[in-house]
Amino acid sequence: MTDLAKAAPSVSVCRICEGAVHEFLDLGRQPLSDAFPQAGETAGEFFYRLAVGVCDGCTMVQLMEEVPRERMFHEDYPYYSSGSSVMREHFAQTARDLIRTELTGGDPFIVEIGCNDGIMLNTVRDAGIRHLGFEPSASVAKVAQDKGVRVRTEFFEESTAVAVRSTDGPADVIYSANTFCHIPYVASVLRGADALLGPDGVFVFEDPYLGDIVAKTSFDQIYDEHFFLFSATSVQAMARRFGFELVDVRRLPVHGGEVRYTLGRPGMREPTPAVAALLDAERAARLADPETLRGFAASVARVRDDLVSLLKEIKANGQKVVAYGATAKSATVANYCGIGPDLVAYVCDTTPAKQHRLTPGMHIPVKPANAFQESYPDYALLFAWNHSQEIMTKEQGFRESGGRWIHYVPDVHVT
Ligand code: SAM
Ligand code: TMP
Ligand code: ZN
Repeated sequence: MTDLAKAAPSVSVCRICEGAVHEFLDLGRQPLSDAFPQAGETAGEFFYRLAVGVCDGCTMVQLMEEVPRERMFHEDYPYYSSGSSVMREHFAQTARDLIRTELTGGDPFIVEIGCNDGIMLNTVRDAGIRHLGFEPSASVAKVAQDKGVRVRTEFFEESTAVAVRSTDGPADVIYSANTFCHIPYVASVLRGADALLGPDGVFVFEDPYLGDIVAKTSFDQIYDEHFFLFSATSVQAMARRFGFELVDVRRLPVHGGEVRYTLGRPGMREPTPAVAALLDAERAARLADPETLRGFAASVARVRDDLVSLLKEIKANGQKVVAYGATAKSATVANYCGIGPDLVAYVCDTTPAKQHRLTPGMHIPVKPANAFQESYPDYALLFAWNHSQEIMTKEQGFRESGGRWIHYVPDVHVT
């Protein structure tokens, strides 16, 4: 890099308001987070620059560079939502809540954006309610279809939403979990939502919350698929820009801290007190201030240095580390910190589509989950920290046998 290039701050155009997005964190050259190559196939890996910035107009935090969607979401997409029992219960409860509160009229209709393996819609199907999932990744869409969930294997956007409106009529609810933040083409999606929703319809979506990411230094929430890191402030600006109103927010404990946002048509519903409360809290915390975000970036570098030092020290002592959960998030951690098979022998994961492959970029071998119990290491690096409650419960034997967990959220520590 030339000195000139180093000196020039990176700026991009905001996907929401076309304002200036100022970079505050560079996580370097990164592979696709969900592309697990076979040994011998690593030469073809795709890399891009993972950096994140904040818009000085609407405060939306977003990636500086976009990865084409077809590279991420396709017939080999390996993330199956139903792999976690906690998430299965979370989405069953979500479906029951939506049925009770929003799907109360005659012949209601719900559309899900990113239905994956049907983890939420299978409860809706069981209730006999009209539904449709949009899921472009054929691998996971097929699992949902095999459960009897109705799925269109395509991206939700304006044209596909308009097509559904003409065949199926208006939707009462459009719901989306861990998907809307994956979509840089917001204008198309919200025009699609406008076309598909009935006059009283709502768009409900839940995604990782910027407030939790900053508070916990969970920088691994930043990767190719997570194009936006939402806050109530930035979502309100987005809603207004595209003809909606933010009418409710609810913090959720799943996936390390999320917020469920509800958008309605302007004037349709009185915003709940929770909206003003979260907006106030974000203002008081100066969540989107450049200074706050630069402080976050400094904490990220500290976590990297502490984690690498610890892993090197363990290696110098002749002890073994194995990682737990080949999460998409862990691609950011491994590649940013330079953690390869020299420091972590292998990663254990329950997903068949990831097993006997290598992790993206750093090429740590992925083994089936039972490899963990078959031969406990001295230390286990908890890549799937967002599922820690579920994992700690089933892996109690590890600590009882003298093993120790390594955590890096909110800071590096051993338990
Ligand atoms: N909703 C599930 C959950 O919360 O576990 C799945 C989340 S997964 C991280 C994101 C999903 O969104 C993927 O299955 C991907 O194929 C899908 N996706 C990405 N862009 C989409 C779009 N424009 N329309 C519908 N689905 C999309
Ligand atoms: P996620 O954090 O994006 O949900 O990904 C979780 C990954 O961890 C996924 O590859 C499945 C894996 N996993 C396990 O290996 N064991 C478990 O007990 C759980 C909950 C997840
Ligand atoms: Zn903006």
